[in-house]
Amino acid sequence: MRKLLVTGGAGFIGSNFVRYTLDHTDDQVTVLDKLTYAANRATLDGLPADRFKLVVGDICDADTVEQLIAESDAVVHFAAESHNDNSLSDPTPFVQTNLVGTFTLLEAARRHNVRFHHISTDEVYGDLALDDPERFTESTPYNPSSPYSSTKAGSDLLVRAWVRSFGLRATISNCSNNYGPYQHVEKFIPRQITNVLDGIRPRLYGQGLNVRDWIHVDDHSSAVLTILDKGEIGETYLIGADGEESNKHVVELILDAFGKDAGDYDLVTDRAGHDLRYAIDSTRLRSELEWQPRFGSFEQGLAQTIDWYREHEDWWRADKADTEAKYAKAGQ
Ligand code: NAD
Ligand code: DAU
Repeated sequence: MRKLLVTGGAGFIGSNFVRYTLDHTDDQVTVLDKLTYAANRATLDGLPADRFKLVVGDICDADTVEQLIAESDAVVHFAAESHNDNSLSDPTPFVQTNLVGTFTLLEAARRHNVRFHHISTDEVYGDLALDDPERFTESTPYNPSSPYSSTKAGSDLLVRAWVRSFGLRATISNCSNNYGPYQHVEKFIPRQITNVLDGIRPRLYGQGLNVRDWIHVDDHSSAVLTILDKGEIGETYLIGADGEESNKHVVELILDAFGKDAGDYDLVTDRAGHDLRYAIDSTRLRSELEWQPRFGSFEQGLAQTIDWYREHEDWWRADKADTEAKYAKAGQ
């Protein structure tokens, strides 16, 4: 029975990973999470007390990190400031958590020789033209665009250096855009679903032509467990499920699910430096580690996600007004 330390386990992907791990393994899970605005304590309600524990704390706090890593067999590091729009209005917490926090964890992991898996993003590779036949692979050069993605790129490079210089037993995964339950209403898909539920028209940045490569969060979780079990130390794996969609098409699917007109949205101020397209080639993960996504189609996963937000207003309601007020100030 493995003891896992999951940082950021009260956020969207971390909490889904914790549930998935408790359901599919015998692992004991300790979550270290600062409970920032992005976390919701209710997300972790009902988890089995004999296998799960929440420690409220900061990954930049070396004493807390040292103590928790000393008790762990492996760390899965999700904690981050994760929202591009926020990184444009104030990059400060991004530099602190994503860079200093990752450094703090790496130092403790090397002192205790603990297996480390670092969760990262496809955004470290920059963006692609809409008609580029190539997709991102493990050898695509880093070229991040935003304060968020540049701090994630920096954190990846720290992990690589700790592997090479100190022999840290680490792996890295770079995943595409996740969707599913428990995602904060600041993010694209939950924002548009909850807008429609509130009678507000969905908001598309620019012309809505930007493309994201969607993956259901449970498929991200299964990929991370696969890499933790079978991944080669020092290696990077790209995680994706061939889910490319334009933002406009995603909004049209959401409107259709609510029986609304496909054109019932507003075009708003574009994001500064807005990446045009992300696309992942996950051949390596599929061929070397025999991973496969379980969600057959984006439409199927989106329909489940829409149902989840319809049924869990109690979970998202408290964040909605503040989030929309922030967007309104930015003309979005
Ligand atoms: P999120 O914003 O929903 O959750 C982040 C969590 O980290 C929150 O619970 C927050 O309280 C916690 N946290 C933030 N700062 C902390 C600190 N200093 N100490 C301890 N905890 C702290 O983010 P998410 O969307 O779940 O993303 C999780 C990870 O996955 C991030 O590393 C992100 O870069 C990566 N990622 C996200 C996506 C995506 O589509 N959302 C895709 C690929 C990779
Ligand atoms: O690619 C992985 C990344 O995906 C992760 O690393 C990030 O943590 C995660 O937030 C996500 O980043 P994006 O910037 O792609 O996600 P976001 O949900 O903010 O936006 C998705 C797309 O939708 C993007 O092109 C911007 C656009 N958008 C977003 C919002 C909130 C809109 O058109 N309207 C909106 O209201």
